[in-house]
Order: sequence, then structure tokens, then C-alpha cells
Amino acid sequence: MSVAVVTGAGRGLGLQTARTLAQRGHSIVAIDVDADGAADTAAAVGGRGFGCDVADRDAVREVAEQVGPVDVLVNNAGIWRFGPLLDLGREDVIDVVNVNLLGTLWCVQAFVPGMAGRGGSVINLSSGAARMHSPGTGVYPTTKNAIEALTVQLAVELGPLGVRVNAVAPGSILTEATAKILSESDRAERERTIPASRMGRPEDIADAIAYLASDAAEYVTGQTLYVDGGLTSGKVTAR
Ligand SMILES: NC(=O)c1ccc[n+]([C@@H]2O[C@H](COP(=O)([O-])OP(=O)(O)OC[C@H]3O[C@@H](n4cnc5c(N)ncnc54)[C@H](O)[C@@H]3O)[C@@H](O)[C@H]2O)c1
Repeated sequence: MSVAVVTGAGRGLGLQTARTLAQRGHSIVAIDVDADGAADTAAAVGGRGFGCDVADRDAVREVAEQVGPVDVLVNNAGIWRFGPLLDLGREDVIDVVNVNLLGTLWCVQAFVPGMAGRGGSVINLSSGAARMHSPGTGVYPTTKNAIEALTVQLAVELGPLGVRVNAVAPGSILTEATAKILSESDRAERERTIPASRMGRPEDIADAIAYLASDAAEYVTGQTLYVDGGLTSGKVTAR
């Protein structure tokens, strides 16, 4: 059975990704800095759960040793600390870079060697914010652009090992976390600018990840798939 690692699996897009991949026959390894969240997801999908900070390279390696060979790695764990760049604190910058960018690389270094020889698929999480820069979003968009560059670099280096590497860039997705901070009017305003006329659902993202993890995407590597209802597709105006 295919083994799929999902980081940040305790809630939000990671939780839905774990559910969708489990429904499609993968055995799930749920990783989250929130150990209870990882355990709850693992219990819900019948997989294994590990409390682990992806920014801690040694801790990630220890988990990888316990898990053994894997087929799919979804680097979903991500954080944001918003604020104007001129005022952003040192720790906030370091935390966002450590989790979003370096955490992805540490997980690749820990889990991909176990894919060599049997093939595999790595899916990294970018964001619509990599294309649509809004003031006050800190270094978050910068880390997501870096994720897209890392995705191409990894695809080039890992292709000969039979490992494909792609990214998914969600647009505005309604998760429990985003639902709490968006007022009805914010939501309506956003939906006016989205060609698909609605915010995204976690299932939209999980389905795209499941496609990239599957053999249907056997010849797809080095790509970032924007799953955003057309929001960032170019010449889009509000209705
Ligand atoms: N929700 C959206 O609208 C949206 C849009 C674009 C991109 N994304 C990206 O999708 C991914 C998931 O977003 P979400 O909305 O589900 O976020 P979320 O905050 O709801 O969930 C993130 C999960 O990652 C875990 N996590 C945080 N830091 C971690 C670390 N250091 N190590 C391990 N786990 C850690 C958290 O505990 C949490 O369970 C992120 O990479 C985010 O940047 C989300």
C-alpha cells in the first residue's frame, strides 16, 4: 500500500488532504507540531500520527527513521506573520522562513531517500499570495515564491531518481481558520473577484494534491498548479 506523509495534518487543508488521500487508498502518516492534532487526524483516517516541528531538522529525521519508506510527501505545514516589512520583527521573519521554506527542504531530505528506487511524488504548498502581493503580508509571499523555485530545482535533481515534485497554490480557501477572520462582507467582496464566483473548499485543494500524487500525473513534474477559481489567472476584474 502507498504510504503518504502529510505535514500540518492536524487541521485545515492538511486534515482534508489526509482524509482524501486515505479515501484513495493511501496509508497516512500525519505530522503536526500540534501532537494532539496529528493523533486526532491519524485516528480519524486510520493512519499513524507524529508530533513534530518541521523546522527542526533532527526531529524530522527521527520521524522519517521510524516511518520507513514512503511514496508521497505533502509539505503542507505553513505559517504566516503579517505586518509591514519595515516593522517586521526578526523572530517573525525567521519563523516563517524556517517553517515554510526550510521545513519543506528538511522533510524532503528526510523522506525522499526512502523513495529512491521505488519512485515517489512530492507536493509542496505554495499560495495565490506568490502571484498577488498585498501590502502587509510580511515575508509569507516571498517564502511561497521560494517554494515554487525549490519545487523546480527539486524536480530537476530528483527526476532521475523517479521522484516527481510539484506544488499546489491555493487561492482563497474557506477553512475553519479563515472562516473565523473573514466577515460576511469580506467574503462577498472576495467572491466578486473570483471567476468561479466562490471561495475554495479544502476538498478543491486535496483533490488537486491527490491528482499530483497519482499515476495520472506520471508525466507531470516541476509544475505549480494554481487552484484558485481563476483568481490569479491574469486579466480578471471584479463583477
Ligand atoms: N487556507 C488558505 O486559504 C490557504 C491559501 C493559500 C495557501 N495556503 C497554504 O496551505 C497550507 C495549509 O494552510 P491552512 O489554511 O490549512 O493552515 P492552518 O493554519 O489551518 O493549518 C496549518 C497546520 O500546520 C501545523 N503547523 C504549523 N507550523 C508547523 C510546524 N512548524 N511543523 C508542523 N506542523 C506545523 C499547524 O499546527 C496546523 O495544524 C499552508 O502552507 C498555507 O500557507 C492556505
